[in-house]
Amino acid sequence: MKFFIDTANLQEIKEAHSLGILDGVTTNPSLMAKEGIKGKDNIFRHYKAICDIVDGDVSAEVLATDFEGIVKEGEELIEIDPKIVVKVPMIKDGIKAIRYFTDKGIKTNCTLVFSAGQALLAAKAGATYVSPFLGRLDDVSTDGLLLIEQIVNIYSNYAYETQVLAASIRHPMHIVRCAEVGADVATCPLAPILALLNHPLTDAGLAKFLADAKKM
Ligand code: E4P
Repeated sequence: MKFFIDTANLQEIKEAHSLGILDGVTTNPSLMAKEGIKGKDNIFRHYKAICDIVDGDVSAEVLATDFEGIVKEGEELIEIDPKIVVKVPMIKDGIKAIRYFTDKGIKTNCTLVFSAGQALLAAKAGATYVSPFLGRLDDVSTDGLLLIEQIVNIYSNYAYETQVLAASIRHPMHIVRCAEVGADVATCPLAPILALLNHPLTDAGLAKFLADAKKM
């Protein structure tokens, strides 16, 4: 399973990259706003700065919701860097735009996916990635992991090439369960990635080894 980091914070991206386990980055307008990035030039510069840190795909979300606007924005975004993947919302014009981008060989990430039917359409349109939001489903008392599993099964039935990018991950067990059900990618904030490191028996074991090493 690939690990993407779900942030626009350059320090966090650098920290995850320094671990040697980072395969890409996802951003969204809320994450960009959180970093205080304003204005098209600054936004584009920030995407470029992210691309310069990582080796893999970097999702940059369009703000338009009509076909022509999505295509125009997407074509501008891909000029920033070859790592840019155009992130397109799961709406009717979004699906049309994904098909347009697919036919031009442009990578896409279909975002705001909350049902298997939506994921099926994203795959039919040739999206590179589909982003089901598991945490937001859990937030409304619906099992987000079941959706990830359902999409993985449907794509496998028909050998769709669209990769299942589990998004809206909140804690380390989300990551582990995504790996169990066969998600292709998990995009996570830095905290749940770092939380995977933790186990009290590791801490206790290391403390004992270091104490005993002094007797060597
Ligand atoms: C990623 O592509 C999504 O935009 C993100 O994971 C959403 O996460 P949230 O539900 O924590 O905002």
